[in-house]
Amino acid sequence: MRDAVVYYSNTNQSRRIAQYFADKLGYPFFDIYEVPYQNFDNLVLAFPIHCQALPDAVKDFLSQKQMTNLTLIATYGRMCHGNALHEAQRKYSHNIVAGAYVPTRHSYLQDEEFDDFKSLEPIIQKVLAPSQIKIPKSYKNPFSDLFKLKRSQLGVKITNTDKCDGCGMCAQVCKCDAIADGVTNRKCIRCLKCVATCPQDALKFSLSLPMKAYLKKKKQDKLIIYV
Ligand SMILES: Cc1cc2nc3c(=O)[nH]c(=O)nc-3n(C[C@H](O)[C@H](O)[C@H](O)COP(=O)(O)O)c2cc1C
Repeated sequence: MRDAVVYYSNTNQSRRIAQYFADKLGYPFFDIYEVPYQNFDNLVLAFPIHCQALPDAVKDFLSQKQMTNLTLIATYGRMCHGNALHEAQRKYSHNIVAGAYVPTRHSYLQDEEFDDFKSLEPIIQKVLAPSQIKIPKSYKNPFSDLFKLKRSQLGVKITNTDKCDGCGMCAQVCKCDAIADGVTNRKCIRCLKCVATCPQDALKFSLSLPMKAYLKKKKQDKLIIYV
């Protein structure tokens, strides 16, 4: 059997949840960029919601890999998870056996991390006894796809400080090829992987006023599970 838990994660939230599934199921655990297989029997895939949609890395993965049974775990920063799981089911014809939207710390805030791991137990049971489900449609802001890269770039500024010792780790971890010497270019999606990884803590980010106002909006805190 080729079973695995795979994660795409920039600020560690999806990785934490993926780790829980890997421990509980006894499956090997891979970063989405380091997966050695093309085909899987049972796959649990954990990733963040970006602008109410699947991140490009997850779209690429789902279009390139084959799996008999797929579980999709989407973490979101308590703003709006959109309709990402329903869209994923429609677009990629994989056999989905379970799914979840898990509310957790927003990449741009210092709020609480998800810690109610017990409530994920029904998903573990479903991975072990798989059968296909249909993911219902959920609300997505109709404007969320408009200029999303530009919106993130205007909303979040990344700056380098004099703590930088030029180690180049930021460029190494960036899969968008969007940073060199602590300076981001137009490809940067503001995922903050570089900020979270910098060993000198030299990279800082700041939020624009509209982004701060948006992040102050009333929060959603609902764990939604489909089994
Ligand atoms: C570019 C970007 C866009 C995001 N868009 C949303 C969103 O539309 N709704 C939401 O609730 N959280 C959003 N978030 C927050 C993340 O979904 C959330 O913090 C996630 O748990 C981060 O996972 P990670 O640490 O595994 O990368 C966004 C974060 C980033 C970096």
